[in-house]
Amino acid sequence: MRILGIETSCDETSAAVVEETGDAQRPWAIRSNIVASQVAIHQEWGGVVPELASRQHLRDICGVVESALHAAATAWGDLGAIAVTQGPGLVGSLLVGVAFAKSAAAAAGLPIVGVHHLAGHIESLVLENGELPLPAVVLVVSGGHTSLYRVDRPGAYHLISRTRDDAAGEAYDKVARLLGLGYPGGPLVDQRAAGRDDRAIDLPSTRLTHADRNAPQLAGDLDFSFSGLKTAVLRHVRRRQDAGGTFTDDEIGDICATFQRKVVTALVDRTVAAALRHGARSIGVAGGVSANSRLRVDMKAAAEAREIPTFLPSLALSTDNAAMIAAAGLRRLRAGHTSALDFNADPSLPL
Ligand code: KG4
Ligand code: ZN
Repeated sequence: MRILGIETSCDETSAAVVEETGDAQRPWAIRSNIVASQVAIHQEWGGVVPELASRQHLRDICGVVESALHAAATAWGDLGAIAVTQGPGLVGSLLVGVAFAKSAAAAAGLPIVGVHHLAGHIESLVLENGELPLPAVVLVVSGGHTSLYRVDRPGAYHLISRTRDDAAGEAYDKVARLLGLGYPGGPLVDQRAAGRDDRAIDLPSTRLTHADRNAPQLAGDLDFSFSGLKTAVLRHVRRRQDAGGTFTDDEIGDICATFQRKVVTALVDRTVAAALRHGARSIGVAGGVSANSRLRVDMKAAAEAREIPTFLPSLALSTDNAAMIAAAGLRRLRAGHTSALDFNADPSLPL
């Protein structure tokens, strides 16, 4: 079966055609994956403006879907289903994808399946690497989320821990903004950190020891927290500014490198600890921050030292895209799920 995937949860309009291969170990192949990025629009404002995002999705969605079908040499009649991101995300953005997908499904007489955005990020790993050795511990780390999941069976995601405050990508974006680097901040901080001193300034490491009263079902000691780190960078910058000074390019690089070491160390330590505690036979890292150069190297090294195979998406599949939504849609469809045509976008959909 071929499925059309649609993703509009934040600031990328994306459509993809993914096909089943018939091989249980490597179940899916990408026929096309088109992404229209809105970065240029939001750059001017230093972050995603929800109203501008949903309007741009409206302008782009028809063309992006047509391109995806064309690039996949696929007609509507060749499709077996449509998958769309139901949530979480910006509600105005989600609504464009959901409304488009429902209309297309009704018009073409196709089943539709609503997909959780993070299930998509997790399945991006299977899309490229085949089924992971299970149980797997997967770190989903993006601008909106930093969570660890245990996958016991294909398609069964069990939450182990998550951030108590900022997501790692959000901390990157905020630090980039206060250093005046621009948006989106993650790749810019990553570039500026290259070759610089990662112990140049004193920044805190946050280690949580107690369960969160809002989530007593989680152990809590594997949770993340990045807002204290971000505030420490802010204080460091303010101290210099209050004294009337500025930073040299090298000093900015040093701040980026030190901040990056702290974030990556927290992500790697907790992921490996979770993998050991849960007897994981593999580790996965997915979501926009999985593009980070240091995270890719350090996670592989730490996991290899414990002989746990580690899987990361290619750069094209690490940030938001519809191929991963199509894959997660096929997973749900084959588990017997479809959505009724009256299902709605849900900005805080639980996984
Ligand atoms: O998964 P994604 O495209 O969108 C969300 O679902 O949030 O992730 C975007 C996030 C942004 O915060 C961006 O700054 C971050 O991923 N990011 C990075 C890098 N590339 C993207 N963070 C650190 N280093 C990178 N190289
Ligand atoms: Zn995402």
